[in-house]
Amino acid sequence: MPRIAYVDGQFVQHSQASIHVEDRGLQFGDAVYEVWAVRDGHLFDRQGHLARLGRSLNALSITPPLKDSSLMVIVRELIARNKLTNGLVYLQVSRGVARRDHPFPAHARPSIILTARSMNQVQADERAKQGIRVMTCPDNRWGRVDIKTVNLLPNVLAKQAALEAGFHDAWFVDADGLITEGTAQNAWILDQAGKLRTRPATQAILRGITRDTIIETAQSLGYPFEERAFSVDEAQNAQEAFITSATSFVTPVIAINASVVGDGNPGKISSSLRSEYLSQQTSVKEQLRASI
Ligand code: PDD
Repeated sequence: MPRIAYVDGQFVQHSQASIHVEDRGLQFGDAVYEVWAVRDGHLFDRQGHLARLGRSLNALSITPPLKDSSLMVIVRELIARNKLTNGLVYLQVSRGVARRDHPFPAHARPSIILTARSMNQVQADERAKQGIRVMTCPDNRWGRVDIKTVNLLPNVLAKQAALEAGFHDAWFVDADGLITEGTAQNAWILDQAGKLRTRPATQAILRGITRDTIIETAQSLGYPFEERAFSVDEAQNAQEAFITSATSFVTPVIAINASVVGDGNPGKISSSLRSEYLSQQTSVKEQLRASI
């Protein structure tokens, strides 16, 4: 796959793509981002990610640098130039370039970066068939993780600690012993009463776009559902557990710390939500095959 990035109005070779040393995203984490999945040439949850980008920019008082329709022209062009069929599109918007000083600069123009990368879907599907094991760790992030900013150091450290401990990922736990979410995914269970549960979308979690679509999918399939937080203990004793995100779609969790979930195999409902989500998203609207 060729690697082409987009930086502030220009398509450039990925290896040559760069931003200014005084970009506020770099110096202050003063930036927001989005990630779209591309599978079989389809862009997943296009509108949901655009809407959340608007909310994130608004939360940071950054004026949207482009209209959604113009941004989508760039996204489509990026997918075509990269001949991307299966993978991800990453978008980052920072407040812009200015002399390093904490207050918002008077005249900065937001900087835009877009990259695309391929992903091996066979491997990802295999992982979902096997399920993943997660470790829990204290949620030590700031109080506004509902805004999709690039300030992800606690997430990076938790993910690394999980890998080093032999797990696939980590789930954050709040001061009350309730799970908030994963390092880059929302957390779900099918509880003992047979209810699908995920934490309400307060300021304590990022409101996943995949999460929102899966809530609709679950409801359309008639699965009982409740937005209610769950403890580590409830998750370990759940019938099923899984994660949702643009990168993992729906991926079953088969163990939490030293406890297996259910019978230790990916759950039936989790697996059915994954296939339903994938078939829904690949049957709709946005056909973005590399041939455009
Ligand atoms: N992460 N929670 C966190 C902390 C996340 O970083 C993400 C997404 C999600 C799921 O959101 P969505 O369903 O909209 O992808 C939940 C992206 C994929 C990332 O950082 O790469």
